[in-house]
Amino acid sequence: MDEASTTEAVTRLPRVLRTRAELRAALDAARQPVGLVPTMGALHAGHASLIQRARRECATVIVTIFVNPKQFNEAADFERYPRNEASDVATVGAAGADLVWIPSVADVYPAGFQTSVHVGALTEPLEGAARPGHFDGVTTVVAILLGLASADAAYFGQKDAQQLLVVRRMALDLGIGTEIVACPIVREADGLAMSSRNALLTPEQRAAAPVLRRALLAARAGYEAGERDGEALRTAMRDVLAEAPLAEPDYVSCADPATLLELRRIDGGALLSMAVRFGPVRLIDNEPIA
Ligand code: PAF
Repeated sequence: MDEASTTEAVTRLPRVLRTRAELRAALDAARQPVGLVPTMGALHAGHASLIQRARRECATVIVTIFVNPKQFNEAADFERYPRNEASDVATVGAAGADLVWIPSVADVYPAGFQTSVHVGALTEPLEGAARPGHFDGVTTVVAILLGLASADAAYFGQKDAQQLLVVRRMALDLGIGTEIVACPIVREADGLAMSSRNALLTPEQRAAAPVLRRALLAARAGYEAGERDGEALRTAMRDVLAEAPLAEPDYVSCADPATLLELRRIDGGALLSMAVRFGPVRLIDNEPIA
């Protein structure tokens, strides 16, 4: 890339759309295939990697930014969720997207809205158990976004591993033609998975937060050394988390990667995952083992 095109990539701004009608008109005129990157804003390098992947694979890339009230089970969590539209639009443009849809609540949920999309057993453990109603909020909004965008592909991060499985299940069950593309977790240099919530950590909490990654790697090391007992791997993760007094584990899991049910013994693969609170901030991370 020469200097001029580098400058253009950094300063380029996407077209900002607000209403459903603006979205529809822009997509009707868009070059195919269309790639969709749904987000709740507070964009970081993890989101940028989803947009860049969509850019490589699609002729038109649209990002949506909507802090979806239906998926927050704690009002305070919704209120404190970071929002910064101007810097998000700049990030979207620098990552190469063409369009960004930033709707109001009324654009996403029209007056009289009374529909909910519920996925069954996959939404019950882990995040579903810890955050009642969360996945109904996610699947309802994602179904709306996939319906409105009619995209060929939609890009989701593997950090939200359960969300990815649930969205895939929903798309399959409802016959939604959009390909659901899984993208790798992007990490800070110290191993902390990138998350919009990281910005809410105090310096002390931020310094302690890489303990999630260390705990997951300790369990992976146990597995690689031959440990196949699910509870032994969960204990290995809890032991590492216990070394960080600021970390309060919500759950620690070694589960079947397809059903997300806890494993007594690992015969095939497993999904190691956890949710850990640092004061009011709740972080999640995971590590698949094959
Ligand atoms: O992962 C997220 O940011 C959200 O759950 C999503 C998929 C944008 C739906 O609001």
